[in-house]
Amino acid sequence: MMSIVTLTLNPAIDQTIFINDFQLETVNRAYDLKNHAGGKGVNVASLLAATGHPVVATGFLGDQNAEIFDRLFAEKQIDDQFIRIPGQPRVGIKISDQQTQRTTEINLPGLTPTNTELAAIRTTITRLAAENNQWFILAGNVPPGIPSTIYGQLIEIIQAAGKQVVLDTSGEALRYGLAAAPTIAKPNLAELEQFVGYALTSEQAAEKAGRELLNHGINIVVISMGEHGALFIDAAQSLVAIPPSVAVQSTVGAGDAMVAGLVAAQTQGLDLAASARLATAFAAAKITQLGSNLPANEVVAQIQAEVVVRPCSAQHDLLQWNTSQLKGVPL
Ligand SMILES: Nc1ncnc2c1ncn2[C@@H]1O[C@H](COP(=O)(O)OP(=O)(O)OP(=O)(O)O)[C@@H](O)[C@H]1O
Ligand SMILES: [Mg+2]
Repeated sequence: MMSIVTLTLNPAIDQTIFINDFQLETVNRAYDLKNHAGGKGVNVASLLAATGHPVVATGFLGDQNAEIFDRLFAEKQIDDQFIRIPGQPRVGIKISDQQTQRTTEINLPGLTPTNTELAAIRTTITRLAAENNQWFILAGNVPPGIPSTIYGQLIEIIQAAGKQVVLDTSGEALRYGLAAAPTIAKPNLAELEQFVGYALTSEQAAEKAGRELLNHGINIVVISMGEHGALFIDAAQSLVAIPPSVAVQSTVGAGDAMVAGLVAAQTQGLDLAASARLATAFAAAKITQLGSNLPANEVVAQIQAEVVVRPCSAQHDLLQWNTSQLKGVPL
């Protein structure tokens, strides 16, 4: 069967602790704790599986305390091809304060694979690329101890087999990855600013920076800008897709949902405008839910109908956005 493959080098158990009026240096009483199996590739896999796509998930996964991943893979019928490495998956703590609407995140480092394990992931990707899998999604930061060139190397392997690849990462891994020309790249605005080395303070500036990437052989560049929406750029056109306003539960994973929607659109052969609409609907729908879940199909379809897609235009340069309101580059 033709599957979509997601790679997660550093999966995480996301622990959300719910506390009202969270304070430092005192005893806080939490009223709930929720655990989710996470990490960007795992989130994308989960969303794609939930929307009926056959998915293979690979990467490195700690062999201790990882039952939450086993349960997710079983529940969503995700083909688990993770390489098990000794130790526990990293934990990401999110302190969610419903009263102040503030979230505090504490991220722990992950496991570092050995050189043998790194060689094993190359072998796994080589094998999966030789099988009947059309799309590969490389998502998330490269953890310490893994060379930043890893995504670039894997993109070369995947493309040599004639398969398509989406890259969603930041920093040096993005730089090396873009050099290998993935089919689609989805930086957020802060990640693209870091890549080009200057602030992108208007729609036109972001469009120009994105379009330059096409010269390097990338087919579609998507630049996401949080609630401002996203730019979708290919050789023929540049579009802006603006989400409707939705009741936000957690913006964590908005980008992952956008990547899932983009690939879902590509597998359906949708054009750029329709892809922009579907990807934006996935993203806006995702943030109304906790964990990597979408609301009911009717809700996603409703949001999809409300997305506004228009061509990029100089006129909107007047509507400069305040980049300080956008999220920074994740650590
Ligand atoms: N507050 C919001 N309201 C509506 N839609 C939103 C909001 N925040 C994000 N989105 C949608 O999600 C898309 C992706 O969001 P964003 O740019 O924050 O991705 P990201 O920074 O890569 O996120 P992450 O990496 O944390 O998953 C946006 O282009 C937009 O369509
Ligand atoms: Mg992102």
